[in-house]
Amino acid sequence: MSRPTIVTMPGDGIGKVVLPEALRVLEKSGFAADYVEADIGWEFWCTEGNPLPERTIDLLREHKVGLFGAITSKPKGEAAKELRPEVRDQGHVYYSPIVSMRQRFNLDLCIRPCRSFSGNPLNFIRKGPGDTVEEPPVDVVIFRQNTEGLYSGVEWTGPPEHVRQALDTHPRFKAYADVPSEDLAISCRIFTRSACRRIVEEAFKYAREFGYKSVTVCEKPNVIRETSGMMLEMGREVQKQYPEIALWNTNIDAQMMWLTKNPEDYGVIVAGNMFGDIVSDGFAGLVGGLGFACSANVGADCAVFEPTHGSAPKYEQLSPSIVNPIAMVLSACMMLDHLGETERAGRIRQVIGAVIAEGKVRSYDMLKLPGGPDVIAKGAATTDQVADAIIARL
Ligand code: NAI
Ligand code: MG
Repeated sequence: MSRPTIVTMPGDGIGKVVLPEALRVLEKSGFAADYVEADIGWEFWCTEGNPLPERTIDLLREHKVGLFGAITSKPKGEAAKELRPEVRDQGHVYYSPIVSMRQRFNLDLCIRPCRSFSGNPLNFIRKGPGDTVEEPPVDVVIFRQNTEGLYSGVEWTGPPEHVRQALDTHPRFKAYADVPSEDLAISCRIFTRSACRRIVEEAFKYAREFGYKSVTVCEKPNVIRETSGMMLEMGREVQKQYPEIALWNTNIDAQMMWLTKNPEDYGVIVAGNMFGDIVSDGFAGLVGGLGFACSANVGADCAVFEPTHGSAPKYEQLSPSIVNPIAMVLSACMMLDHLGETERAGRIRQVIGAVIAEGKVRSYDMLKLPGGPDVIAKGAATTDQVADAIIARL
C-alpha cells in the first residue's frame, strides 16, 4: 500500500495530550505515514461559529483517514454565550463536530472492541462459589449504527404546526393533544433498512472472520416496535447466510444487567445509535473504563479513529498530564488494522498487554486513585511515562 496521509485532529482538552502520544507509539512501531493536522473543536466554535471548519472536511475528503482526540461540547445556550462578539447573531447553532463528521462522511459503522487485558486491576471480577473470585475474560465487539436513530438531529422543542399535524394522524399522539407546542420536545428515532442492513452485515462478517460464536442484536423490539423491530428483522435475515453464528436478541435494559453477570458469554453485539452508545460504555466499564475504550467510525470511503472518552476538562491543565493514553493508542491500532497493517497493530496491542501485565507503569486510573496532581506522588505514571513504557518494549 502506498504511504498514507493521516489527518490528525487533536481537538480539545486531553485530546491534545493523548493524540501526540499515540503518534509517538506509531512512529516507534515503524509505521510509515505522513500527517496533516486539522482544526476541530471548541476554539473554532468560539472564533468561527463552526467547530468543524470546511478546511477540515476538505482534508478528510482528500486523505480519507482521520485520527481524532476528543472535543468539548456544551449545551446550545451555553455554547451561544461563548461565541466571540464578531461571529455572534449570525445564526450559528452549536452541533457536535464529531456527530456532524459522522453524518457528513456517512461514517455509519461505529466499531468498539471491549477486550480485557490480563492483569489489568480494573478488569471486571465477580464472586464465585464459596470465597472464590472469578475474573472472566471479556472479549466483546460492539457494532453501533453511527448516523441515524436518536442522534439524527431531527428534533424540536416547540415543533412547527405542520409537524404537529403530521403527528396528530397517529392514534397514540392523542395523549399529547392538549400539550402546548412550546411545552413539547420531540426527538425522532429514524432507522433505515439500508443502514440496518449494513451494520448487521458488517457485524456478522466480523464475527465470521474473527471466530465469534454469536451476534446479539441489542435493541428493545418488544416496545420500540418499528425501529428496534427493523434491526431485529435484519438480524434474522442476515443470519441465514451465517448458519455457524448464533443470533441472539436482547433488550438494552436487560443487557445492561446481564453484562455485569455473564459478560464472557457475549461476542459481537449490534445496536442502533443510542443503545450502541450505551452498551459500549457498559462493556468498556468491564475492561478498564474510558482509559481503555477505543473506537472506529467507518464509512464507505472515509474512516476516523478515536478514543471513546471526551476532553476531560478537569485534567486539561494538569502538567504533567496524568490521563491514560491507552484508549488513544488502541484507536490508532484500529486505524492500522483498517490500513491493512494488522501485524503492526497486533504487535502494539501485545506490548500494551505486556506493560499492563507487568504492572510497573500504571496511570492513576489503573491504581484506582481519584485523579489529581497528587497521584504522581502516590506512584501513578504520567501520560508520557505510560507511552514511554509501550515505546520501550516496541
Ligand atoms: P470525559 O470522557 O471527558 O471524562 C469523564 C471522566 O472520565 C474524566 O473526568 C476522567 O475521570 C475519566 N477519563 C476520561 N478519559 C480518561 C483517560 N484517557 N484516562 C483516565 N481517565 C479518563 O467525559 P465528560 O467529563 O462527560 O465530558 C467532558 C467533555 O468531553 C464534554 O464537553 C463532553 O461533551 C465531551 N465529550 C466528547 C466526546 C468526544 O470527543 N467523542 C465523548 C464524550 C464527551
Ligand atoms: Mg458515549
